[in-house]
Order: sequence, then structure tokens, then C-alpha cells
Amino acid sequence: MSTLTVLGIESSCDDTAAAVLRWDGAAHVLSSEVSGQTDLHAAFGGVVPEIAARAHAERLDLMVELALQNADVALDGLDAIAVTSGPGLIGGVVSGVMCAKGLSAATGLPLLGINHLAGHALTPRLTDALAFPYLLLLVSGGHCQFLIAHGPDSFERLGGTIDDAPGEAFDKSARLLGLPQPGGPSIEQAALQGNEDRFALPRPLLREAHCDMSFSGLKTALLRARDSVLQDGSRLMREDVNDLAAGFQAAIRDVLAAKTSRALQAYLALSPSEPAFAVAGGVAANDVLRAALASEAEKAGVRFTAPPLALCTDNAAMIAWAGIELLRSGAPADDLTLSARPRWPLDRAATPMLGSGKKGAKA
Ligand code: KG4
Ligand code: ZN
Repeated sequence: MSTLTVLGIESSCDDTAAAVLRWDGAAHVLSSEVSGQTDLHAAFGGVVPEIAARAHAERLDLMVELALQNADVALDGLDAIAVTSGPGLIGGVVSGVMCAKGLSAATGLPLLGINHLAGHALTPRLTDALAFPYLLLLVSGGHCQFLIAHGPDSFERLGGTIDDAPGEAFDKSARLLGLPQPGGPSIEQAALQGNEDRFALPRPLLREAHCDMSFSGLKTALLRARDSVLQDGSRLMREDVNDLAAGFQAAIRDVLAAKTSRALQAYLALSPSEPAFAVAGGVAANDVLRAALASEAEKAGVRFTAPPLALCTDNAAMIAWAGIELLRSGAPADDLTLSARPRWPLDRAATPMLGSGKKGAKA
């Protein structure tokens, strides 16, 4: 097949998305539509799974229609349908998988179940044509891991968070500081005016030789620092918030930079022919963090890339792209027995880390 046109569907968290991509020797994003749900969850201080699933079910067919329309592609112009089949909030994933199955059953088009994390991890090949193997830091609201991408379905995890993801820490910390959600952009904004040295916040696991990280203690430390200001009866002034935000962001920056340096060493031991380090996920939108990662890559003599913001945060173009990668690699399609998986680690050989319970590893 010289040309491949694939519809992608994503609904694993709080974005309902559909996209159409074409591969003809080069990748073309013909359309990429995302309908966010921030407003629906705002009052609850986090994503409410039932509300998310219902909103996905209501919006999925509209987004698919819009994506096809904007790509100027009809259903019979497609070669396959790729859908996020995990990991994620199960109600949302089921909504997307059911939508994709319905389309596949009606049209006879092949169905491809995509790992959401693989979507993020393969995006640097869509945007920057990186060659395998490359090093990736996936850093979002739900995930934080260093991966070596060896192939479209072959990922090696070097390490990751043992508790909260940085985006989650940004969101929870913003709440502690009375800043709006999502917390990442509001903390980044506040930190611009802050003094990062005023509050001494911890850098957990910084000196350990591995690539694992921990962020949950940081938010507790931030709470204590905030309360130390409030203790003598004073109110939290804008300057205090800015300094707390700057101190918090600097701690995350230092941990990510130190662990990136270790991950780069492990990656370079493979002697990749075109060494590259990419960052993906919503937290990659942060300029301060991005600059710190770029500087580590430069020190190691490794090319640094970060997809444009719209492809860093959740979207369906990355899912369609992962589908194209699988088709090009000759992987078999799924069928109507495809099931939604709330947990689905990318590196099947790695020891489960994050919240691995009865159902297996989350990440
Ligand atoms: O990848 P994403 O859109 O969704 C998933 O978590 O899968 O990432 C969203 C996360 C949120 O936690 C948000 O606060 C964080 O990315 N984020 C940021 C910034 N922009 C978004 N974190 C730090 N700095 C930013 N500028
Ligand atoms: Zn994501």
C-alpha cells in the first residue's frame, strides 16, 4: 500500500478527538479535531469519569464527522480506523472503542486498537521523522516515564514516577495556591514573577543512580511552605504565591533535568546512529522545563525535539499516526473482539511500578 489514510479516535481522558492522517512517503495531518471538557469538570476539581464518558458518547460521532469533513475524506476513502483502546478512564475508552467498532462493522474497514501512550511516544516521528531508537520523556497529567522507542510496538522503560505525575503535581499545587486549573500554565505564569530561592522545596531521589522520580512529597512540602506564610495570621499575597510557584517549578525542573541526564547516558550506551531525545505530553508545554531538557540534550550532544503543543497534549492525530506506523510495520489488525483496557503498560517486560494492583500495571 503506497498511500494510507487513517481515521484516529481518542477518548481516554477528558478530550474527545478525531483526526484523519495520510501517509504517502511523508505524513500529512489532514484534520485534527479536539473537543475538551474542562468546563464540565471545573466545579469538581478533577475529571469525573462518569461525566467524561457521557460527554465522549455524545460528542464522538460529531467529532468523527467534523474530522472527515475537514479532511475532505469520505469513509470509503479510508484504509483503517485506529482507536485508543487503553490505558485510560474505562468509560471514555469504551465509548471510543464502541464508536470505532460501529464504523468498522458498517464499512468493513480494519480496526486498530492503539495504546494511548504509544500515540504520545510515536508523535516525534510524525512531527520530526525521528529514527528508531530515540529517547522519549513522556510527561503529562497522568504519566511520567523515560522510554527508549525501538519500534512502533517496542518500548523500553528506563524509569518513571513512583507516585504522582508532574502534571498532577502542578494541578494539585495550583489548587493549594488558589490558582486556576489546569495548574501547569497558571503556575508557569505565576512563577515568571517569583523568586525560586525563597522556599527550599525538596528534590526527591535526585542523587539516586536510577531514572525513577517521586513528586507527591513535593506538593506536601509546598503545602507546608504555604502554611508557614499563613501561620502568623497573614494572608497569602500575590508575591508569596509567585515565589511558591517559582520554587515548586524549579524543583520539578531540577529533578527532570537530573534524571534526563541519567536517561541520556543509558540511551547513548546503545550507540544510536541518529541520537535524539524528544519530550511529549501536556507538561512539555512548559517553557522553563523544556529549556532545561533541551540543555541536557545539548550537553550530551543529542538532538532535542518537542512536538508542537497541539500534538503534545491529547489528540487523535497521534492515534491515527500510531495506526499508520503499525500498518507500515505489517502488524495484524484487530477485530470486533477488541476490548478496552484501563491498564496497559508500554514496556511489557518492565516491572510494574505505578499503582500496580490486582489489575496489573497502570503504566
Ligand atoms: O497530556 P495532557 O494534555 O493530558 C494527560 O494528562 O494525558 O496533559 C495535561 C497536563 C495537566 O496536568 C496540565 O496542568 C499540564 O499538562 N500542563 C502543564 C503546562 N500546560 C499543561 N504543566 C506545566 N506547565 C505547563 N505550561
Ligand atoms: Zn495523554
